[in-house]
Amino acid sequence: MKRIGILTGGGDCPGLNAVIASIVKAGIGHDFEFWGFRNGFEGLLGEGDYMLLDTDAVRGISHLGGTILGTTNKGHFSSKVGSGTEQLVDMSIIQEVKDNLAKWSVDGLVVIGGDGSLGTALQMFESGINIVGVPKTIDNDLEVTERTFGFSTGVEIISECLGRIHTTAVSHGRVFLVETMGRNCGWLSLYGGISGGADVILVPEIQFDYQKIVDFLRAREHNGRGYAVVAVAEGVKLDGGQQVVATEATEGENTLGGAVEVISRRLNQLAPNEFEIKTQVLGHLQRGGAPNAEDRILAARFGFGAFECIERGHWGNMVALSGDKIIKVELATAVSKLKFVDINSDVVRMAKAEGISFGD
Ligand code: F6P
Repeated sequence: MKRIGILTGGGDCPGLNAVIASIVKAGIGHDFEFWGFRNGFEGLLGEGDYMLLDTDAVRGISHLGGTILGTTNKGHFSSKVGSGTEQLVDMSIIQEVKDNLAKWSVDGLVVIGGDGSLGTALQMFESGINIVGVPKTIDNDLEVTERTFGFSTGVEIISECLGRIHTTAVSHGRVFLVETMGRNCGWLSLYGGISGGADVILVPEIQFDYQKIVDFLRAREHNGRGYAVVAVAEGVKLDGGQQVVATEATEGENTLGGAVEVISRRLNQLAPNEFEIKTQVLGHLQRGGAPNAEDRILAARFGFGAFECIERGHWGNMVALSGDKIIKVELATAVSKLKFVDINSDVVRMAKAEGISFGD
């Protein structure tokens, strides 16, 4: 009998429970036992905080949002590899995890997390712990995988919200700046914006110019459309290249937020009393609730792929989507690269051809 630990780390997103259920269902009855560690890596410390994941524990959870194991992006394991500054987890903490896993006879760990958690997972693997990674980021910003679960659901929510904002914007002739998630990459804002009918989309990868937005709004007004919906990724870069930080982090990453307020003020300065501008931050509404059908399936496929890696002893890998196949990629390669929106991609060119402005 092999004992495998499963944990979810970093921010939650719809589909985590479907991954957990899929791993457990694939392995139970094949000489595997699963322990779910609570609150990310924290559950691996001290006396341990874990639960047995048997068939009963995972029955009926695949369609539920959040994670039955809990998660955190703070604590002893806040690390950052890739886009941020590398910050390794203290080796004494890694050693404690190693000793605990040996004491509990846990043969390997599945870490379901974003680039921060996978960076920690890599550090653990390099320290001799058997690890399989499952990518989790609602931002869909890991280069080695075409999609991550949670993204499709997030896009659907943004799309619906923009549609709702649109009718009230039209009725009042107002300009709405709607802030979406998306720290370093603008996929949520881009896909949500296109599908939700945004007139302007601002993403971190494309430097916008305030004057160009004002000119665009003036042209719309001139053409009898005095309203506009602007989708703004929270990580958008202002003129000096800086992002808007809502809360400075004492550990882990700064919380971004409030870009729409800053942009609104600047637009009002450039065109005083010309536009009635309202702001709306969608925030964690984008991450809450049940995964849609596409995310449920992708999450379940990732879970099954992770189980196959365990079964074959392919430790030190992360599952990923390539074309329509689940593949494995070495963790060391997987965590190091973000997938940015390409200004010259067909999606951006199509959006521009449809009349959407990127403020550039
Ligand atoms: O990385 C995913 C993400 O949803 C980002 O888009 C956002 O900046 C961040 O997490 C928010 O994290 P928290 O839940 O800690 O506020």
